Amino acid sequence: MSNLRNVSFNDLFAEVKRRYECTKRPAMNVIMIGPPGSGKGTQGPKIKDDLCVCHLATGDMLREAVAKGTELGKQAGDIMKRGDLVPDELVIGLIENNLSNPECERGVLLDGFPRTAVQAEKLDQMFVSKQMSIDRVLEFAVDEDVLGERIEGRRIHQASGRSYHLKFNPPKVEGKDDATGEPLMHRKDDTREALGKRMASYHRDTKPILDYYRQHGNLRTFNATAPIKEVEGHIEKALYSNMI
Ligand code: AP5
Repeated sequence: MSNLRNVSFNDLFAEVKRRYECTKRPAMNVIMIGPPGSGKGTQGPKIKDDLCVCHLATGDMLREAVAKGTELGKQAGDIMKRGDLVPDELVIGLIENNLSNPECERGVLLDGFPRTAVQAEKLDQMFVSKQMSIDRVLEFAVDEDVLGERIEGRRIHQASGRSYHLKFNPPKVEGKDDATGEPLMHRKDDTREALGKRMASYHRDTKPILDYYRQHGNLRTFNATAPIKEVEGHIEKALYSNMI
């Protein structure tokens, strides 16, 4: 309550209205899958707000652990910088620990998880035990030629994971996060060299799990090379209509 007293009436009303609007939409569990730079982190906050679900982004959680210097961060930091995948058990633990958060009551938006067959199997088990189901898997299909420029121009707000681009999605004030005014940073793995490794692991480890979801009929694939606003439209269709 004491926190709420510090929130302006207008902000509080807008939040209540947003949550009320969510009650008219179906509760959903959604997975975003796409190569590095395909737009998951850009679209995630809007999907989260539209559906009133929690946004569990393993990359953001790992970067937070690295920044705080936790045991997990010490194990993951160098692996991430190289562009390799962090061991399955570490990321599975992150998801397991967060799935029961009150914020996840209406559903969950998974960003960057699962990324391997082992993670996909474990997720199925977690969902079965919680009587949850995967309603949509969104595949960000992107022309790989655009990814280098997207990665090099990306700037992020470390605390929230909000993603900007110097050319395609600049912040209102150069170098500052729109919501907090805090400085933006360039990710250590946003280099052409690490991108090569991340793409290789996307093709080797992650793409095969798309077939698994395709067979289950909940995969929706759309053109993520399009401008950001257009991709938003593709996602709305993918979420709310049965065919795209
Ligand atoms: P993670 O943080 O998940 O990185 P990623 O999957 O490689 O994805 P990115 O964050 O690079 O891309 P994005 O799709 O979010 O793109 P964005 O929207 O920012 O993982 C980082 C590392 O953590 C991994 O390499 C691994 O080491 C580890 N890790 C994480 N999860 C793991 C797991 N499950 N298992 C094992 N290891 C794990 O967009 C990019 C840029 O393009 C931005 O600047 C944006 O403004 C711009 N942009 C976005 N959309 C458009 C558009 N339509 N047009 C023009 N510009 C656009």
